[in-house]
Amino acid sequence: MNSSSPAQRTRRRARAVLAAFTTAGLAATGVVALAGTAQAADTLGAAAAESGRYYGAAVAPNFLGESGYASTLNREFNSLVAENAMKWDATEPNQGQFNFSGGDQLVRHAQSQGMEVRGHTLVWHAQQPGWVQGLTGNNLRQAMLNHISGVASHYAGQIDSWDVVNEAFEWDGSRRQSNLQQQMGDGWIEDAFRAADAADPNATLCYNDYGTDGINAKSDAIYRMVQDFRSRGVPIDCVGFQSHLDSNANLSSYQQNLQRFADLGVDVQITELDVGGSGSSQANVYGQVTRACVAVSRCNGITVWGITDKYSWRASSTPLLFDSNYNKKQAYQAVLDALNAATTTHGGGDGDAPGNGSAAAYHPAAWRESGPATEQIT
Ligand code: G3I
Repeated sequence: MNSSSPAQRTRRRARAVLAAFTTAGLAATGVVALAGTAQAADTLGAAAAESGRYYGAAVAPNFLGESGYASTLNREFNSLVAENAMKWDATEPNQGQFNFSGGDQLVRHAQSQGMEVRGHTLVWHAQQPGWVQGLTGNNLRQAMLNHISGVASHYAGQIDSWDVVNEAFEWDGSRRQSNLQQQMGDGWIEDAFRAADAADPNATLCYNDYGTDGINAKSDAIYRMVQDFRSRGVPIDCVGFQSHLDSNANLSSYQQNLQRFADLGVDVQITELDVGGSGSSQANVYGQVTRACVAVSRCNGITVWGITDKYSWRASSTPLLFDSNYNKKQAYQAVLDALNAATTTHGGGDGDAPGNGSAAAYHPAAWRESGPATEQIT
């Protein structure tokens, strides 16, 4: 089955070749455990890389100067995402005037450490600059398209996966009645994906949402949208599951939900994981999420929504893997063990694109040196 647009196929070809680059690169540094001599990796990123995945964290540029923050990021993670610095209010505070300072700082940091970068987020109802909120009709559409084009083309070739559209559905599966929906109608989401594809044809393009941690009305609606987009060649490559959870989360259909999206021919990524709580109950949920991802071949990476509890958006819930002093928590060991236990090597799940979307494969330096790959997938 291959109903992809030409742009999607280009993206897949490039990424399959990048997988080979990274495997070679990691093997050269001893990060990849060889068959028969496998040893447990002792950092999250290295453990995830063993099965071709990334393990990332949401990062704020203003904390990079704090030694505990930077050293933990650099030691443990092989991917980062801007917690706020690439959002619309940060990148286009005035119409047509772009500011990439925070995002550029994060991309430079990632590249200096050999990390990949997730982009978050091109279009969202929240954190819009004031000037966007007053726009109506076609003026809003043109502003959205111009924003996507400006940001995605600035970062083209440097972003592995973009959250193109964030949080466009309600719990009951209806479209969120944001200014985006009300002013542009149902077509705005696919318009956004087409604009992102035009600006950065090699990035993996994701729809991202919360409350989709199992089979429910909201994930059903997103599933139908992705199915429709795939059938019509709208360039969507990936679905992000934010997974803002608590220790009592019911994850009985979590893996099944990831798998059904993967079966549509898209990658799935855990994009904003955090789990309120502490001790073994928190560790247990982190472990369940990790095991679910590594059991799905197209689940190509996990991002936690911050490094330390100290700077979490929900700090009072202590939801992250490192405490306020950057000590590893029980949850850290649960994640590390689950990553090390992964036996599947991440790769294409639908048979039409071997190695497609191996996010750990993306290496900006290799990309810049090689240019877009054109090899045919066999
Ligand atoms: O930039 C100002 C700064 O100038 C000012 O000094 C400071 C004082 O409070 O506020 C700063 O802005 C805050 C910004 O975070 C940076 O700290 C905003 O008020 C605050 O609203 C913003 O919160 C972010 C939130 O998204 C906005 O909705 C959180 O950090 C961020 O973690 C959170 O992330 C979202 C994802 O993007 C989407 N999914 C849900 C997730 C959690 O809400």
